Amino acid sequence: MSTTTTDPAEAALSQRVHLPKYGIEVGPFPHLRTERERLAGLTWEHFDARPIGATVGGELSGIQIGADLPDDVIAEIRQALLDYKVIVFRDQTLDSDAHVAFASRFGDLEVHPFLPSNEKNPELVRFAKSAQVGGYENGWHSDVTWREVPSLGAVLHAVEVPPSGGDTLFCDMYTAYDALDDATKERIDDLYAIHDYSQVFGHGIAEDQKEEMREKYPLVRHPVVRTHPETGRKLLYVNRFFVSHIDGMPEDESHALLDRLCRQADTIEFQFRHSWRNGDVVFWDNRAVQHYATSDYWPATRVMERASIIGDRPV
Ligand code: SIN
Repeated sequence: MSTTTTDPAEAALSQRVHLPKYGIEVGPFPHLRTERERLAGLTWEHFDARPIGATVGGELSGIQIGADLPDDVIAEIRQALLDYKVIVFRDQTLDSDAHVAFASRFGDLEVHPFLPSNEKNPELVRFAKSAQVGGYENGWHSDVTWREVPSLGAVLHAVEVPPSGGDTLFCDMYTAYDALDDATKERIDDLYAIHDYSQVFGHGIAEDQKEEMREKYPLVRHPVVRTHPETGRKLLYVNRFFVSHIDGMPEDESHALLDRLCRQADTIEFQFRHSWRNGDVVFWDNRAVQHYATSDYWPATRVMERASIIGDRPV
């Protein structure tokens, strides 16, 4: 606990307390400060925005995304997405066509091969949960990292929210990476992980279709530490849903390392939690954050629709 450093951030860090019996540490996270203060100082031309989390989450107001927005407004929304990583629009009037039209302003949309979609718009994944259909998205993940080219971001619209519960949490994976000690960063910086769609989506596939699906969606290899293509920042890019192992590493070692890295997303200080209201739209940067949809509302109904924008190959 005692320190001789004159750097206040290092001094704060050195005050963290390790509880070896449980393998946890408590205390301040001084590395959040620079980004938190940067976000607090941002100003915008076409809408108002305020941070709603420490380093992740911004609420934009004074804008209806179902309107025919000019290019400079879309460019500013894209900038807000890069800064806040997750942007929230409340009280939106949006039908499925307008949802698709808005998301398409940021790039081509993907069609998910395994999840049900909106009947009219196949680009919209429809999460329709009820007493008969449970919510299974309650684990930290980025969407479709099993694709060679995972999505840039996702625009999720709350169609029907449950009377209580059903929140979605987001974790800032830049911050999760920055929190690692130097030795771990050095160890993982050049590693690659193997991502496999079948860990989650294999269950619903008939035996006689498995070979065809594997040909269509082979195992893919992505860096464990990804550099964001637009911000240039490094971030942690492994998740338990889709990563099977670290390429070229013995199984036990790979499992232990992945478990340690994936646990970074559990840190509440790196997260933002969104409590949904009907008409909310949340747009997340799928390259920069992971998300977790709570499954605490069964047997109530919860209906969400998601448009995913095609991104680029992680490097
Ligand atoms: C997901 O994209 O995993 C679903 C998120 C949610 O339903 O909140």
